[in-house]
Amino acid sequence: MLGSEGFDLWADGYDKSVGLSDEEKTYPFAGYKDILNKIYNRILGSDAKSVLDIGFGTGTLSSRLYEKGIDIYGQDFSEKMIEASQKKMPGAKLFCGDFSKGLAKELKNQKYDMIVATYSLHHLTDEQKVDFIKNLVPLLNDGGTIYIGDVAFNTRAELEECKKLAGEEWDDEEIYFVFDEMKKVFPKMEFERISFCSGLLSLKK
Ligand SMILES: C[S@@+](CC[C@H](N)C(=O)[O-])C[C@H]1O[C@@H](n2cnc3c(N)ncnc32)[C@H](O)[C@@H]1O
Repeated sequence: MLGSEGFDLWADGYDKSVGLSDEEKTYPFAGYKDILNKIYNRILGSDAKSVLDIGFGTGTLSSRLYEKGIDIYGQDFSEKMIEASQKKMPGAKLFCGDFSKGLAKELKNQKYDMIVATYSLHHLTDEQKVDFIKNLVPLLNDGGTIYIGDVAFNTRAELEECKKLAGEEWDDEEIYFVFDEMKKVFPKMEFERISFCSGLLSLKK
């Protein structure tokens, strides 16, 4: 599993390598831009004034929302990613911390209109994902939504199919969302398939 040092090293080349995989429609980032655009448009089309971004990386999504006047809060464990994002969003409240150990206390003390996590929560086990999401729900204002965009599948069979297709490229250290398993815990969760390897999960409060 890539640790914070790994993400520090990836920070400079991150946008380029993600863009390439998305353009070539290959695993793991096929559908990346579509996912981010969908989340962006839904948040802008709402009355949301504050967004919490978990594992914000280089701030590709949240900096666009920031430019539209939305208050951005976030947590990431890579100093380099934080540096890159803070440059784009000087007024954003960004905290360093490992989300597998929970959210920074400063972030737990308030509520948000929307919560987003793109391509970050696959670093948690399924059990950790469930606990983490359960802890996010009380931080959401009524009417808000948690948007999770990632390598994700409707069923485990679809995940296995993608794994076969990806061959040696498949990353065994990442643990991807399987919607029909998550839905058993979160009956209100919805899923939109975006590409053969990606999807958007939403949980409205
Ligand atoms: C693949 S990048 C995604 C970045 C961004 N959300 C995007 O969509 O481009 C994953 C991000 O999550 C962060 N991350 C991964 N595991 C983490 C953890 N356990 N705690 C905090 N941040 C983590 C990484 O540092 C990185 O910035």
